Amino acid sequence: MPIFLDTGNISEIEKYLKMGIIRGVTTNPTIMLREGVTGGLKGVKKRSIEIAKLINPLPLSVEVTTNDPEKMVEQAKDLAALAPNINVKITIHGPDGELENLEVIHQLETKMNIRINVTAMMSAQQGLIAAMAGASYVSLFGGRINNMGYNACEEISKLRDVIDSFELKAKIIIGSTREVLNIIEWLGAGAHYVTVTPNILHDMVIHPYSKETVKTFLADAAKTETKLK
Ligand code: E4P
Repeated sequence: MPIFLDTGNISEIEKYLKMGIIRGVTTNPTIMLREGVTGGLKGVKKRSIEIAKLINPLPLSVEVTTNDPEKMVEQAKDLAALAPNINVKITIHGPDGELENLEVIHQLETKMNIRINVTAMMSAQQGLIAAMAGASYVSLFGGRINNMGYNACEEISKLRDVIDSFELKAKIIIGSTREVLNIIEWLGAGAHYVTVTPNILHDMVIHPYSKETVKTFLADAAKTETKLK
């Protein structure tokens, strides 16, 4: 089921959940900060519990707030224990290319039974490595890929091909949506899920010509009432 909501905003999640059009929620530290979360990891956990309960059994991705390998393991265990539908996000490598992240991802997935969403990835190559390490989800940042002058659709399609060919369990999530067209194009290219910001999801639905059409229908319906009198 293809659409996740990329937000930490409770009322936006409630709104789209009621419509039945989202199949999960993704967050990251930037999103949490933007949505008013304070208090560091404690605040992140509080908001995550709220969201996880609200969307249960749909999945919620929550990111660790450290790049220290031991602390990542501890935080991942902590976050995963908050609710059964929480997946833990860990970046493909550290801020200076530290590779310990992959060791942590492999350990959490294969020895601790924690579902990991490997994030901050910009290429099919990175996605393949994350999938090989055992990740349940691999997150590519489509908007950022396009902004760097590469083609997100090509990266998605290459990654989907190798995941399918080698029967890797990872599902591709593509985030970093920038425009409405991204969703249908990225799904068409082979992403399992697109995580969409609330404003872009809104714009996917509303069409000026639909508005005009509805106005005509309502006006004509009203005219039929008048004729009956
Ligand atoms: C999703 O998993 C990502 O964290 C998110 O979509 C990143 O989006 P941005 O590039 O707009 O920060």
